[in-house]
Amino acid sequence: MSKVFKLSPTSRPLSSSPRQTLDGIPESPDSTLGPRPCEPSPEIKNIMVTGGAGFIASHVLDRLVRWYPEYNVTNFDKLDYCSSLKNLASVDWRSNYHFVKGDITSSDFVTYLFSEKKIDTILHFAAQTHVDNSFGDSLDFTLNNVMGTHVLLEAARIHGVRRFIHVSTDEVYGEVDGEDVTEDTVLAPSNPYSATKAAAEMLVRAYTKSFGIPTVITRCNNVYGPHQYPEKVIPKFICMLMDGRKLTIHGNGQNRRRYIYATDVADAMINILHKGEVGEIYNIGPGQELSNLELARSLLRAFGRDPDDVNNLEFVEDRAFNDSRYAIDSGKLRGLGWSPAVSFQEGIAKTIAWYRVHGLSWWGDISSALTPHPLKQLAQVEFVPPVIAGTRSSFFPSSPPQSAPNGVAFGGRLARSSSIEYGRLGVTLGKRTSMDQQTSLYGTSS
Ligand SMILES: NC(=O)c1ccc[n+]([C@@H]2O[C@H](COP(=O)([O-])OP(=O)(O)OC[C@H]3O[C@@H](n4cnc5c(N)ncnc54)[C@H](O)[C@@H]3O)[C@@H](O)[C@H]2O)c1
Repeated sequence: MSKVFKLSPTSRPLSSSPRQTLDGIPESPDSTLGPRPCEPSPEIKNIMVTGGAGFIASHVLDRLVRWYPEYNVTNFDKLDYCSSLKNLASVDWRSNYHFVKGDITSSDFVTYLFSEKKIDTILHFAAQTHVDNSFGDSLDFTLNNVMGTHVLLEAARIHGVRRFIHVSTDEVYGEVDGEDVTEDTVLAPSNPYSATKAAAEMLVRAYTKSFGIPTVITRCNNVYGPHQYPEKVIPKFICMLMDGRKLTIHGNGQNRRRYIYATDVADAMINILHKGEVGEIYNIGPGQELSNLELARSLLRAFGRDPDDVNNLEFVEDRAFNDSRYAIDSGKLRGLGWSPAVSFQEGIAKTIAWYRVHGLSWWGDISSALTPHPLKQLAQVEFVPPVIAGTRSSFFPSSPPQSAPNGVAFGGRLARSSSIEYGRLGVTLGKRTSMDQQTSLYGTSS
């Protein structure tokens, strides 16, 4: 039923021309690239990567833009608290890379961009990603992860894209106490973050069945490496250790996770983009499995601190719910010719080296991320009068986006209020920087 892109391995030499940017940011944490793993596909011309200023997608962009000068790549990101344009220093000056600031929930703007950039391929990473935050402001997760994905799928349907790669997570399976689970396992998410990721997947699959949208879904282990905002456990522990602090452990520290290095995941995504079969799901793993306590102790050792000294560890209240373990089988992905190349020892050494230089300054003030449970403000729920039948929701403004003569595009949500109507229940999201940013100009640069 599905058509697979034709490819063959290539040994074509690649110019990676290392460059030092003006403000001294190194071009890339991994500026030497080997040969690209797949030949360029004649079906791909204009790719949109959502969430490209975040952690994983910045590593994908680093490879995609440098390996494939044949592709025009647009990075579409709202620049939330966890992102940084510094993550793109290796590619932001290249002619096949473009950045557009905007929000995937902005239907008019997304549709406009698809048409303007003639998008044929989507790599969809943008999401609210931190489980702890999802216990605080879970509505924001539904908005960004579910509604945002739905808006992209609609744009993909209208514009007839050729490939829609949807990035999901191993957390959609819920906790796994026994054998590694395969892609056909029933989903059982247990926290608001993973529930919204599973909900987004349902929409992706429905759009494939209903409208024939050529989608592929990925479900990955925990990822670590340079560029990861220090709310996630590995960079958080590294930053705490650099600051001379003790490490805070949720609950008894026995919850287990598997960790895979960012460039391995980026290579997996490049393989799936070119070789993945439409309608398929690919688990991405396995990473190194460690309990939180084992992880903390290995990082203490790496910083020359005694892992058995109780003064180096502080056990704090557990999450509202904390999956005991995730364990996925990635045999199907191996069948595409990919396997992880970076050992945990090597990856963690590279990660520590990067954070020692950049960790405390890359994102500005990270103090709120280094708390045991960083929680975003809860949404305030209030009653608003019923929506009058026939009126359009403020979510889908009727006016088309306007373009200024200087090439600066104005997003369709400029006029959007912070009050979002869900049927008869009005939900006003607490004012936060990320929401405020959406009402700024959506500038484009290339
Ligand atoms: N980090 C992990 O361990 C991991 C594991 C498995 C799957 N994933 C998935 O991979 C993807 C990327 O994760 P990450 O850790 O790199 O994320 P991240 O939090 O580092 O970055 C997310 C990016 O998305 C952008 N973004 C968020 N909402 C947006 C919106 N509405 N419009 C436009 N941009 C928006 C943010 O500005 C940010 O740049 C996510 O879909 C996540 O669920 C992550």
